Amino acid sequence: MTQTEKNIVVLISGTGSNMLAIADAALKEQWLSRFGARIACVISNRPQAEGLQSAFALGLATEILDHKTFASREDFELALVSLIDQHQPVLVVLAGFMRILTPAFTARYSGRLVNIHPSLLPAFTGLHTHQRAIDAGCKVAGATVHFVTPEVDQGHIVAQVVVPVLPLDTAATLAARVLIQEHLLYPKSVRVLLQNLTKSTRQS
Ligand code: GRF
Repeated sequence: MTQTEKNIVVLISGTGSNMLAIADAALKEQWLSRFGARIACVISNRPQAEGLQSAFALGLATEILDHKTFASREDFELALVSLIDQHQPVLVVLAGFMRILTPAFTARYSGRLVNIHPSLLPAFTGLHTHQRAIDAGCKVAGATVHFVTPEVDQGHIVAQVVVPVLPLDTAATLAARVLIQEHLLYPKSVRVLLQNLTKSTRQS
């Protein structure tokens, strides 16, 4: 693999603020010249996802693959795989991508499929993480970047960030505080993964 072949594909469903943070870091930190890495495509399963407009405005290639137009999860994933594989990505980055993935999909991208989850895994897998952390009386919350495996939110942890839970926090205020940190954690994690890939390319 050469320095110019490190494509990243980002999957989104909504706001895409983590995708934007990664795109921003890629530009500012010159990932293309340093690691040969670029965001090759941003794919959304929701046609109305706000993140699509933001990606387009940044000049990134975008694709819409509406899961509702497919008869089954498997059919949707076959089309998704076909889109992703056009770019032969070294990393497939889930950034607020709200679809459960089949074991066939996670196996195909094993070791190059990462996600950010808004809790300190292994605590609070699944949804409503901030409310559940408040209800449990947690004094800290946070976010986790992890590799994706067939078991939802249970893959190997890449990095975590810890955020205080304040006495008057609501799920919304806590989510906002965590999200600010996600925007630092996710780009940094992707950069470290790219650095590791660059090292292993040089050694091989
Ligand atoms: C983030 O909180 C992320 O942890 C979770 O979904 C949210 C996505 O936000 N997986 P955005 O679309 O990146 O703005």
